Amino acid sequence: MDKKTLIDALNEDLAGELGAVIQYLTYAAKATGPYRPQLAQFFLAEVADEQLHAQFLANKIVALGGEPATQPRPVPAAKTNRAMLEAVLAAERRAVKDYTARAQQAEEFGDKGLVVQLEDMVRDESGHSEETERILRDWPV
Ligand SMILES: [Fe+2]
Ligand SMILES: [Fe+2]
Repeated sequence: MDKKTLIDALNEDLAGELGAVIQYLTYAAKATGPYRPQLAQFFLAEVADEQLHAQFLANKIVALGGEPATQPRPVPAAKTNRAMLEAVLAAERRAVKDYTARAQQAEEFGDKGLVVQLEDMVRDESGHSEETERILRDWPV
C-alpha cells in the first residue's frame, strides 16, 4: 500500500462524509407526516458524527501530505420518508464496508493510529446502519 493510493482512498471517503452531512441536513428538512419530529431529529443527530468523520479525514489527508477533497459525493434523490431511510441505510452500509477495507489498507501501510481511528468509524457507521435498519423494519408504508 503506497501513500498516494491511501490518500486517494481517504479522499473518496471524505467525499462520502461531506455527502453524508448534506444528505442528513436535506433529509431532515424533507421529512414529512406524523413521524416528522422524530425523523428530523434522527437525521440531524447524525450530522455531528459525520462531520467529525470528515474533520478527521481532512486532517489525516493533510498530515499525509495530500490535499483534502471538497466535492461531496452526490446525495440520492428521495421523495418519501421510506426512500430517504433506504438511501441512508445504503450509504451507512457502504461506509461500514469502505472503512473496513480502509483499516486493512492502513494496516498494510503501517499506520496503527489510522487503523484504530478507522475501526472506531466502522463502529460508528455500524451503529447508524443498525439503527436505520430497525426503523425501516416496521415502517408503515
Ligand atoms: Fe461517517
Ligand atoms: Fe454514518
